[in-house]
Amino acid sequence: MHITDTPRRFLLCSPDHFDVTFEINPWMTTERRPDREQSWNEWFGLVSELRAAGAVVHHFPSLPGLSDMVFPTDVGVVDGDRFVRGRFRHPERRDEAAHGADWLLERGFTEIPWPDDPDMYLEGGDVVRFADGLLCGNGPRTSPAAAEHLSRVLGVPVVTVPIVDPRFYHLDMSFFPLDERQAMYAPDVWDSEGQRAVEKLVPEPLLISIEEALTFSANAVMVGRTAIMPACPPRIRAELESRGFTVRIAPVGEFLKAGGGIRCMALDLDLLHRAGHLSPLA
Ligand code: ARG
Repeated sequence: MHITDTPRRFLLCSPDHFDVTFEINPWMTTERRPDREQSWNEWFGLVSELRAAGAVVHHFPSLPGLSDMVFPTDVGVVDGDRFVRGRFRHPERRDEAAHGADWLLERGFTEIPWPDDPDMYLEGGDVVRFADGLLCGNGPRTSPAAAEHLSRVLGVPVVTVPIVDPRFYHLDMSFFPLDERQAMYAPDVWDSEGQRAVEKLVPEPLLISIEEALTFSANAVMVGRTAIMPACPPRIRAELESRGFTVRIAPVGEFLKAGGGIRCMALDLDLLHRAGHLSPLA
């Protein structure tokens, strides 16, 4: 069902205005601000790792005042030629969704609207594809009703995973899909119902501990068989390599100060790349 022979496309936002000016997750403190030059170096390093692995990188220009824009994954869920815009829990990030939507609309994507329900929240970091469906974190940032809405409008099964550890406030910090059968994940981050649901879904898991997940190792992207990760503890690296994956580290320590890693920084423009819904981007 998925089209795998076209290059993976990501949308990245440069750190021109990146900063930690508010605290909306346990990682952020305005006492520990990112270094500007180091942020640029890390960002360019990530772009070149993505390109070296064969991905196409699109640039989303950042805007003053929106210091978290460097994490465009949260602005929506893209399904080929259409998208659902994010509905941010925190007012500090709400304007980002509109800018993300404008970027997509200007390039020919179609927006799937939300119902008029003020209690629905959805941030793209909670939405991860595995095999022919989606997993959707439920907790600090995304409401269960939003996951149901996604499933309805996109016509894909969505498994809801309740998050109980606030340090891993988006699902993409504890679940990293490797291929159609394998995923690396930290089950201790979720409640027992979520753990059972994921266990049923993933035929070949690579389980990791909370300590291993705290390195942001799961907040990574896969391009072909190359895993591009912020960090990779030796045990995980050995496991991934024995399964035939190549591990590339792109250090993003400045961005971790805002509680975001590589998956947050690279919006997957082909998340659900399905026949019938092809991206309007060349
Ligand atoms: N400072 C951002 C926030 O708290 C970080 C976003 C992380 N994004 C992600 N997909 N995990 O919202």
